[in-house]
Amino acid sequence: MRHFLNINSLSNSDVIRLVEHSIKLKQKNSNEKSDKTVVNLFFENSTRTYSSFQMAENKLGFQQIIIDPQHSSMSKGESLSDTLKTLKAIGIDVAIVRHTTNSWYENIISENDPEKIPQLVNAGDGSGQHPSQSLLDLVTIYEEFSHFDGLKVRIIGDLSHSRVARSNAEILNKLGVEVSFSGPENWQPKDFKQFGQFVDIDYELDKQDVVMFLRVQHERITQTEHQYFSSRQYHGKYGLTLSRYKKLKDNAIVMHPAPVNRDVEIANELVESSKSRIFEQMRNGVFARMAILKFVLEE
Ligand code: CP
Repeated sequence: MRHFLNINSLSNSDVIRLVEHSIKLKQKNSNEKSDKTVVNLFFENSTRTYSSFQMAENKLGFQQIIIDPQHSSMSKGESLSDTLKTLKAIGIDVAIVRHTTNSWYENIISENDPEKIPQLVNAGDGSGQHPSQSLLDLVTIYEEFSHFDGLKVRIIGDLSHSRVARSNAEILNKLGVEVSFSGPENWQPKDFKQFGQFVDIDYELDKQDVVMFLRVQHERITQTEHQYFSSRQYHGKYGLTLSRYKKLKDNAIVMHPAPVNRDVEIANELVESSKSRIFEQMRNGVFARMAILKFVLEE
């Protein structure tokens, strides 16, 4: 039994095993039975992660305990740690948590007896990590190319506020992908240089296997950045326009973790274009999350 908090703390062989297991679960697409109980604690809004974890839990036959953090005893001051211990005492096996705080799980794990807390799954922590999104992204890439080594992936946009960018840059680099980044200079985290080069968006765009666009995270940018932000300018400088789309290789794919700001990161008419895998990413999320739930409960 283990937690699933940061995909980059797994070995490459465990990651590939999870990717292949997700694809097998997708091909099988069947419902299972289980005596496990799960709680989904989302302190930040979500559509895809929340509903696809729920769908994964349903398909695995888990019982779900529904708690709305806003209406729980945490609103009276109970800590997340005490809440998780309470839920374990009540009989919860797995807690899936999305939280605004980076690495929300570190103190909880270091300060508690592992027997007294549920298995934890990180559904996104602040601008830290989004490991289940990374797994579904890896599944989407692997389904397309059947390997990672030597692929060229360009990650484009709001790099500094994106937990998807942080999770993916590191794991893709570890798997032998040639990662590069494009986006506004003030949103280029210096530590990303260890995973790949920063380049102009149009540099070798025609050589990329995957172009992965990121949402502009208006809820995390400063007021000044927000005030001077122009959707039209951003789209022209860093977005997927029709002319950029036409330069892509025949077998290149377009990805985005979504939600997409249409006509900002990607031109409206290209969101569902033939190279786009955006809705397939969402579908893959169900099977990747089934694989994660099985992984954390493996004896
Ligand atoms: N990609 C993603 O995490 O989407 P949600 O915020 O809707 O879960």
